[in-house]
Amino acid sequence: MNILLTGGTGYIGSHTAVVLAEAGHRVVLYDNLCNSDVGVVQRLGQIMGSPPALVQGDMRDGALLAQTLRVHAVGAVIHFAGLKAVGESLVQPLAYYDNNVVGTLRLLQAMQETGVRTLVFSSSATVYGEPRYLPIDEAHPTGATNPYGRSKLHIEQMLADLAASDGGWKIACLRYFNPVGAHESGLIGEDPRGVPNNLMPYVAQVAIGRRQRLSVFGDDYPTPDGTGVRDYIHVMDLALGHLAALDYLGALSGWHAFNLGTGQGHSVLEMVRAFEAVSGRPVPYQVVSRRPGDVASCYASADKAHQLLGWQARRSLTEMCLSSWRWQQNCENTPS
Ligand code: NAD
Ligand code: WQD
Repeated sequence: MNILLTGGTGYIGSHTAVVLAEAGHRVVLYDNLCNSDVGVVQRLGQIMGSPPALVQGDMRDGALLAQTLRVHAVGAVIHFAGLKAVGESLVQPLAYYDNNVVGTLRLLQAMQETGVRTLVFSSSATVYGEPRYLPIDEAHPTGATNPYGRSKLHIEQMLADLAASDGGWKIACLRYFNPVGAHESGLIGEDPRGVPNNLMPYVAQVAIGRRQRLSVFGDDYPTPDGTGVRDYIHVMDLALGHLAALDYLGALSGWHAFNLGTGQGHSVLEMVRAFEAVSGRPVPYQVVSRRPGDVASCYASADKAHQLLGWQARRSLTEMCLSSWRWQQNCENTPS
């Protein structure tokens, strides 16, 4: 099948492109490159044998989206494109609603116009807000705590309304927990612009010497070592979850939500130690005050995805750190 990946040159989209191509699909990437580099296409070519098609365009350009869906005879869309920085969303909420919500609306209109009605959407564990119980399953109440999270929630609701209005739509919302790691080749990975917001890229940049030390945001949480606990999932396992969701939608219509996580929580200090062990480099850190909005622990129940999609995360914490370290080293040698 021909599959359009919006945000396809980004971190998760590029890894999913590899998995889909390996499964025999033809991928078309659609991206405005606001948070990724065009060099990803050539590096994907090295992994996949030939580079995928890239349409450089914005999500809010409905005409270009419709044209792309037609020209490439697209059968399904995986929608990764979006802005994703929680802090930035608090400062520029309209940019987040415009890019994420309006961008998705334009995509859905273009899909409706061209008769493409299979969609996998990049949602987030952030739609659960403050965890009321752990592990978080899909029945957990939703309620985001920042504009980024609310943009995801609005989109999920829009998608549910659309599926309810017309039984031809097949929609999966995949609620990612904390994606980390990189493709085993070290050719693609996450290389955030500016200061990383997320733990793993920060740790990797400290290990390589690009940053002096990690700030650990609080060590007084009610967790085993006092630091925050999260469900880190290898990006290649996450990518495989998209393939499983597409297969599932082949047989079923309607709106479906799935958690993609490992079901295991790891603390900040566990992550630091695991990274030090695989890299052989020290990761100096200092404990600072809590980051506003952070919760003590958050991890998934991934039982639904296991039961219905036949999908499970398999890669270990060591593989997450090792692949991330390999990518970080390559990245340092060939800056984009
Ligand atoms: P990313 O920034 O690496 O990739 C997103 C891509 O979308 C980028 O290449 C960017 O250039 C593109 N993009 C953004 N706005 C666009 C627009 N208006 N038009 C066209 N392209 C546009 O992010 P990622 O980590 O790969 O995340 C992919 C998706 O997964 C996002 O929707 C994000 O919200 C979601 N998600 C990410 C995480 C995470 O921790 N990485 C967790 C949960 C959910
Ligand atoms: C993990 C842990 C921090 C950085 C965020 C978004 C969420 C989702 C994924 C998209 C926490 C601690 C972090 C640092 C630290 N994105 N930390 N020092 O907060 O679980 O989720 O990214 O949907 O919406 O909120 O991930 O990687 O930022 O933090 O101590 O420099 O690491 O306090 O305990 P988080 P994270």
